[in-house]
Amino acid sequence: MSGAAIPVTIQGAAGYGGQELLRLLQAHPRFRVVAASSRRHAGKPVEQILPQLTGFYPDLNFTTPEQALEVECAAVFLATPHGVSRTLWHTVVSRLPEARVVDLSGDFRLRDRAAFDRWYGGEHPHFEAVSEFRYGLTETNREAVRSARYVANPGCFATGALLALAPLAERGLLKHGATVVATTGSSGSGAEAKATTHHPERAQDHRAYKVLRHQHQPEIDQELQRLGAQARVALVPQSGAFSRGIFTVAHVELEEQTDVAALLRTRYADEPFVRVREQSPALRYVVRTNFCDVSAVQEGRDVIVLTALDNLVKGMSGQAIQNLNLMFGLEETAGLHHPGASV
Ligand SMILES: NC(=O)c1ccc[n+]([C@@H]2O[C@H](COP(=O)([O-])OP(=O)(O)OC[C@H]3O[C@@H](n4cnc5c(N)ncnc54)[C@H](OP(=O)(O)O)[C@@H]3O)[C@@H](O)[C@H]2O)c1
Repeated sequence: MSGAAIPVTIQGAAGYGGQELLRLLQAHPRFRVVAASSRRHAGKPVEQILPQLTGFYPDLNFTTPEQALEVECAAVFLATPHGVSRTLWHTVVSRLPEARVVDLSGDFRLRDRAAFDRWYGGEHPHFEAVSEFRYGLTETNREAVRSARYVANPGCFATGALLALAPLAERGLLKHGATVVATTGSSGSGAEAKATTHHPERAQDHRAYKVLRHQHQPEIDQELQRLGAQARVALVPQSGAFSRGIFTVAHVELEEQTDVAALLRTRYADEPFVRVREQSPALRYVVRTNFCDVSAVQEGRDVIVLTALDNLVKGMSGQAIQNLNLMFGLEETAGLHHPGASV
């Protein structure tokens, strides 16, 4: 894909999402990273702090967030925590009014103020700007993303759940809700070490957390209802003993007999990053790729839809690049279309 380089900045570039953006963007045919912020590592070479990138960013040093704002660019990724993105977005667009922005946090996903206050909370001085953001699940919102200036990139659990259930919602088959049990790897909590990601405790464990209380639940409901669902999901997030990936099990009881596997095959036939499988999807085939693999098992009106994705790629940074590709009129798959591995 020829054409001039498109300069992009990453805020929060030393976090897991930022690192993944750096990894994926080094092979992108058009986007060029011109600034990467990290408060902890400002002034240091990116390759020194992130040895996995040795040889790919010989001239790039981390800057402070403020210094990154001084670098001219056409787009900014906000790979920053919720609570930070909401004010950083405003600073970015004040300094770079023409820039497109993809926010990886939850600050601009929920449209309802009361829901935002309940599930995220804190001061949101720019909540009215939510109406200027488009929800970045391209599989259900492609045309809106194409013309968007600002995109709210979906949450990782939300991506797996929505790709499982959106085809049913669109067909009016989600009348009585769904139960979604989803297990994430430890990278879902970000790069900072926490008790729940400490290896000796996590490596032999499997547990549920924030059951019916996870902040991605209203995001899933919001999008499914926009697509036609008449009921809500019950989300059961779980912590798994692996570092990357989310495996989702969605249970739905249908009112009428419908062949859901056939529905998935038809619905996703033209989607470049959703692969419908006969057997269960597996994390090892999607990890480090932008694919989400999907399958359905059905017994009468009971349906289980399974999805597997990499939380840092399709659940985060790969999906953010997929969105920015569309926002710049590029091939949606640019820089993202490569296979997984079996081990
Ligand atoms: N991890 C996942 O699976 C996942 C998936 C989807 C979405 N997300 C969302 O994506 C965002 C990034 O997640 P992550 O996992 O990459 O988190 P992370 O590893 O904790 O990285 C976030 C980075 O933001 C920077 N930061 C923190 N406060 C800042 C501030 N006030 N100003 C500027 N930079 C600041 C930090 O870098 P310095 O301290 O070096 O400045 C940190 O490395 C979050 O909103 C998260 O909820 C995460």
